[in-house]
Amino acid sequence: MTDTALVELRGVCKEFSTSHVLPVDEETRKRRLFKKKVVCAADNISFSIAPGEIFGLLGPNGAGKTTAVKMISGLVRPDAGQAFVKGLNVEKKRRQILRHVGVVLEGTRTSLWPLTPFENLVYYGMLKDVRGSVLKERAHDLLDFIGLQDKKNVQVRRLSRGQKQKLAICIAMIADPLVLLLDEPTTGLDVQSSRAIKDKVREITREQGRSVLVTTHDMHVAQELCDRIAIINHGKLIACRPTDSLLEVFSEQVFAFRLDRRVPLDLFSGIPGIIKSEYEGSEEPELVFQLVGEQQDLRSEALYKIIRIFEEQKCLLRSVSQRKQNLESIFLRLTSDDPDADVLKKGNTCLSS
Ligand SMILES: Nc1ncnc2c1ncn2[C@@H]1O[C@H](COP(=O)(O)OP(=O)(O)O)[C@@H](O)[C@H]1O
Ligand SMILES: [Mg+2]
Repeated sequence: MTDTALVELRGVCKEFSTSHVLPVDEETRKRRLFKKKVVCAADNISFSIAPGEIFGLLGPNGAGKTTAVKMISGLVRPDAGQAFVKGLNVEKKRRQILRHVGVVLEGTRTSLWPLTPFENLVYYGMLKDVRGSVLKERAHDLLDFIGLQDKKNVQVRRLSRGQKQKLAICIAMIADPLVLLLDEPTTGLDVQSSRAIKDKVREITREQGRSVLVTTHDMHVAQELCDRIAIINHGKLIACRPTDSLLEVFSEQVFAFRLDRRVPLDLFSGIPGIIKSEYEGSEEPELVFQLVGEQQDLRSEALYKIIRIFEEQKCLLRSVSQRKQNLESIFLRLTSDDPDADVLKKGNTCLSS
């Protein structure tokens, strides 16, 4: 692994087999027919995360995000490959690495609801060998830091969902971990709570040099928060690169032409290199073309032909611009068996610098 990386997954694979109960067979009247199904939750996944880096793991439901988090925190054992934290093999040094890792798993009820946030922090701190005045001081600091100080003596069951989530993050941080794994930290939270959590994540990474892994299916969270993003689908890593570079991926492929009037779209059908053409906007519509990714010469040819058609149609070309894609459209293209998704695999930077 790279010298500085705090987290590394190296070629991990994980399959789960599940039994599905089939509907009652009308002929035999047999109940409980089981069908075994194997799901691939991780297929040769590798990436690493540097100190001070926020790494985003993005993917549709069931892609394998939570499984990756569980493998880093030693909760799921990979079938093949290894996970490392601070250079230690998670499987072999489980106890040692647990000190360095704080994890908030999606939708789990981490905190004890009859206790107060402060009592929860003391309880979990003691479980992690944090004691005495250090523990109390840290519990107060964490509650202050996340904005829960005024709730420290209120039973957790009386807290809102966002406040419970903030407490779960404090619990994950009580042993002062170097690595924080946040599984869908902002799902279901209101804008304010989501913002507060994002601000705190930034602070602990940038100012305190920790590594944070965030899984999310919220593109805005990923785009705003993460330095680097990996996209997984069906257990496969299909992209892994700095957020800016991921946003650039298809930018050379989408061109918008502002014209003085509409020209028929069928004039452009059949031109090699054009994947899609459509009008966007209503006031002054733009004709937007999506062109092929890989073959630059084909793209160039297509652009010449498009311009020639405008010329033949004698329409006024007001402006031409390239469209930067947002993460959502990039994500949708990459997870929809788009052949251009292969473009990305060449530029993946799975290792932290
Ligand atoms: N303990 C398990 N037993 C059986 N199947 C599982 C188990 N954990 C996860 N899976 C399956 O593995 C796939 C990936 O799950 P998960 O990592 O939770 O996805 P994500 O977090 O991206 O939604 C899913 O198809 C899920 O049903
Ligand atoms: Mg999940």
